[in-house]
Amino acid sequence: MNELFLAAKIVHILALTSWVGGMIFVAAVMAPKLRNLPPQQRGSLFSELGRRFSKLGWIAIALLALSGFLQALVRAGDLFRAFSGTFGTILTVKLVLVFLLVVESALHDFVLGPRQTMWEQRMSSGEVPPAFYWRLRRTTQWLARTQLLGAIAVIVLGVLLTRTGF
Ligand code: HEM
Repeated sequence: MNELFLAAKIVHILALTSWVGGMIFVAAVMAPKLRNLPPQQRGSLFSELGRRFSKLGWIAIALLALSGFLQALVRAGDLFRAFSGTFGTILTVKLVLVFLLVVESALHDFVLGPRQTMWEQRMSSGEVPPAFYWRLRRTTQWLARTQLLGAIAVIVLGVLLTRTGF
């Protein structure tokens, strides 16, 4: 195992634990605790904490992609070999899942999250939310859950990769 491979592996594991650990913290600790607050208070806390976590998430995704491709290149020797054999098949499935996770994160961070926050701010000035708001909230929750499941699947595929040849 050369030094570059080892460094990339350490970065990969650090980035994935920060990202997935953060998701588990939000789902298991933060969301259940904030759910019972009044919408306006809940909304501003969620958006402040969410903005910070979202930055960490995007940095982690970039580091995961960089360190992941580095590991694949060092192990396979070249990109063509990295996508061949059983290793290549698992890597391809993993990349498709990672792509879906990135799309989900973008949808959550740049479309649904800000819209939900906007409605929660309006509610704090007494406006009654439309039915659409509750649908939005359910969709955001559903997205966060599928994201966590997807990340767990990607972890399983990652572990399989370390044990698979070409
Ligand atoms: C573009 C994105 C990614 C690429 C190209 C990539 C690539 C790789 C490669 C090639 C390995 C195997 C290294 C080896 O042979 O030992 C690996 C391991 C792993 N990956 Fe990724 N990965 C990516 C993103 C992710 C993400 C988003 C997660 C988690 C959510 C993740 C979790 C893991 C895990 C848990 C391992 C096993 C670590 C170990 O046991 O050493 N990867 N990844």
